[in-house]
Amino acid sequence: MKIYRAEDYASMSRKAADILSAQIILKPDSVLGLATGSTPLGIYAQLISRYEKGELDFSDVITVNLDEYVGLPADHEQSYRYYMRANFFDRVNIRPENAYVPDGTAADPEAECARYDGILRRYGPIDIQLLGLGHDGHIGFNEPDDAFPLNTHMVGLAPMTIEANARFFTSADEVPRQALTMGVKAIMQARCVLMAVSGEDKAEIVKTAFTGPVTARVPASVLQMHPNFILVGDAAALSLLPPEVTEL
Ligand code: GLP
Repeated sequence: MKIYRAEDYASMSRKAADILSAQIILKPDSVLGLATGSTPLGIYAQLISRYEKGELDFSDVITVNLDEYVGLPADHEQSYRYYMRANFFDRVNIRPENAYVPDGTAADPEAECARYDGILRRYGPIDIQLLGLGHDGHIGFNEPDDAFPLNTHMVGLAPMTIEANARFFTSADEVPRQALTMGVKAIMQARCVLMAVSGEDKAEIVKTAFTGPVTARVPASVLQMHPNFILVGDAAALSLLPPEVTEL
């Protein structure tokens, strides 16, 4: 596990965007696993600006998103499809048919999860999987559990996650209680996993996930076993890791 220490959010975003850009330049038809949340916004802004300068071309890129809320249609402002379009897809030259996000409105969520796993099998393994980190250690919406959920599945959101995501809605009552999420298998099969973390409020869970035991109670801890896992964080988020450490 490699650690890149950045001073602040802006330089963390640039570093993560550098790694993603290198991937796209080296392999123009890369399969990118993408994440939502507030952490990656600066990374997407960087990628958009590099695209606008003509430095990046997304025309052959395939993207597969990690997750989606159950019940929110694609045009709902808090759906992850909407987030991805507003913050990335509509601002670069990714072909709409190459940008996959689970469908949270599917009448049969189980069938939708199976369809999504079919997409992951067809294009996989993912070349680089971008991840954020939930305060309870969730990755995508893989919440703490007795075992690591392997495949795409429907999940009940943990109270901590509902509370954390309430800031995007008018109240916590409006946060969907369920989501569809890629499982841990597709994440662990990715050729490279790139996690971005920012802010003091992530410091404790970063320490627990990456210096504690590997346990499904802290889903991100499984990344300790990934052969090519890169953690990019700002000083605040990495403040509880041993100083000067660049590898764990
Ligand atoms: C959400 C997303 C995750 C994300 C996490 C952290 O629950 N489903 O993919 O990593 O929140 O979000 P943030 O970056 O806003 O802290």
